[in-house]
Amino acid sequence: MLSLKELNQQFMNQADREWASRTAAAIKNKVSAVSLTVGSAIPYSTVNGRFDDWSDRIEWWCNGFWSGLLWLMYTETRDERYLEQARISEAALDACFRDFVGMDHDAGFRWLPTAVSDYRLTGNEASRRRGLLAATILAGRYNPAGEFIRAWDGLPTAERNNVGWGIIDCMMNLPILYWASEETQDPRFREIAMKHADTVSWAFVRPDGSCEHIVEFDPFSGEKVAIHGGQGYADGSSWTRGQAWGLYGFVLSYIHSGKEAYLDTAKRIAHYFIANIPESGHIPVDFRQPAEPDWEDSTASAIASCGLIELARHVPDGERHLYLQAAIKLLKALDRDRCCYDLSNDAIVQKCTAAYHDKEHEFNIIYGDSYYAEAIFKLTGNDFLIW
Ligand code: GLY
Repeated sequence: MLSLKELNQQFMNQADREWASRTAAAIKNKVSAVSLTVGSAIPYSTVNGRFDDWSDRIEWWCNGFWSGLLWLMYTETRDERYLEQARISEAALDACFRDFVGMDHDAGFRWLPTAVSDYRLTGNEASRRRGLLAATILAGRYNPAGEFIRAWDGLPTAERNNVGWGIIDCMMNLPILYWASEETQDPRFREIAMKHADTVSWAFVRPDGSCEHIVEFDPFSGEKVAIHGGQGYADGSSWTRGQAWGLYGFVLSYIHSGKEAYLDTAKRIAHYFIANIPESGHIPVDFRQPAEPDWEDSTASAIASCGLIELARHVPDGERHLYLQAAIKLLKALDRDRCCYDLSNDAIVQKCTAAYHDKEHEFNIIYGDSYYAEAIFKLTGNDFLIW
């Protein structure tokens, strides 16, 4: 395994190193200026170019990403104002524990970029307790029949029955379980994470490296009963953010568990993803969407780039180039065509899309910014791993 500094020094050329440093500086300038105007808000998107505030809908799964971006800024600058602002989201999320809202499978998205980052960087004991509580509740979602983590709650209705649903996104929530096992020396969290990852390997990842978004299991027998296209174009299609969650998620499961099969699965998803990158370098919402409308999702680029860079650290020397160059291609396309570094818009990354069939497309989404910053900072050698 190489450190990110070694990857930067040994496997990037001078021009790419300089580009990455310039881009990192532009991100820092932008977040430095915008964060002064955000105060205690928890942004998800923008309205007329200004960040909105989701702190009054604290159960929203995206309410950890702003804090994650601020912790990244803290690791880059050691400026305590980022630490103080990041802790506002962390404290606000306590309402989820108190009122038992938002306690679905997205515990990793909510508490890794908030409480666990705080604990890792400052040793804050209250943050450690929050992280362990979140991990314990997530572990409680494990469905022994079928060996998967159930995504959401709710009794079946005539319109919707999601009782046995697992989703590819959950691969990104597993790291809070690996962290909890390391922290407590209790193997149960890790075993649940690995059982879920093993299930995803066969039930979600197709032989060609593309992934299902949603798999429905019978929660009593564990049988795989259906697939659902979810936020992608259709059943059996290839929602690009789902591919990115799977790619990065399997690299992370390899990093935290050491199980080689996860690295191989990550490579299979990566090969499929790389083969589908369009000439422009801009990623559609679904690799199998029709030619029109040709919606884009920049978040998929940013998330996949993080996974590809981590993958480049963990493969033999002769293979690093493939993953690193694919990430650089994606990130250069974002930087060149899809990023706003001035203050005309609070967000950096443009043209993000939540779901193919939503009414709204190609807007700002906070995790576009946080994963973009994470990927660029990785390229410049920042080893802080949120996940
Ligand atoms: N985890 C939900 C999404 O990626 O939109």
